[in-house]
Amino acid sequence: MTRDPMIAPSLLSADFARLADEVQRIADADWVHVDVMDAHFVPNLTLGLPVVLAIQAVSPLPLDCHLMIEDPERWAPGYAEAGARNVTVHAEACADPRAVARDLKAAGALAGLALKPGTPLEAYLDVLPAFDTLLVMTVEPGFGGQSFMPETLPKVREARRLVETGHLRLLVEVDGGINADTIEQAAEAGADVFVAGSAVYGADDPAKAIAALRAQAAAAGRR
Ligand code: DX5
Ligand code: ZN
Repeated sequence: MTRDPMIAPSLLSADFARLADEVQRIADADWVHVDVMDAHFVPNLTLGLPVVLAIQAVSPLPLDCHLMIEDPERWAPGYAEAGARNVTVHAEACADPRAVARDLKAAGALAGLALKPGTPLEAYLDVLPAFDTLLVMTVEPGFGGQSFMPETLPKVREARRLVETGHLRLLVEVDGGINADTIEQAAEAGADVFVAGSAVYGADDPAKAIAALRAQAAAAGRR
């Protein structure tokens, strides 16, 4: 089965003073990845719902909100109500992941579950049928521009195997350190959605960088 890779540039590496222009520069991507950090779940603070609402109002692409926050039960549904296409919460922060997935879907979004590099997939196999996307973090969450961790790829391979064998029905997303040197490994392992921050916004021509990443992922995904 051939899968069309999806590219989701991360606004974390964009110019925060010019977000309306920055989303236009990536208009030929698939999703806009928005990293919400609360300075508690991760040691960094970025933006929250008011800014997401502002981006949603001007974005040519659906929003992919990655919530690196505590108490997602309380906050995540607001991002779905704001119109985000996909809202991902961290497994490590959820007391009841199934309930969060239900609330996100009731509010009209896809529901995503994210795993930090050290969090095993096995621990969440029973709740994953409630989710539409699985975000495998390929760096420690918190900052852009870190190095890709290949040791996280067995989780991508296992999730892909479970999808191919019909045990799960979800998109497998990778986030962190994805660039021209690493995207092929992630695609070969079976990822569907590729988040890239510095590789897109650090490029002279973000549209060209997106096209190149997409072509690399498509070729590697067929191997
Ligand atoms: C890290 C964020 C990522 C980050 C990726 O915590 O979740 O989305 O923006 O940035 P790069 O692609 O530069 O590693
Ligand atoms: Zn992210």
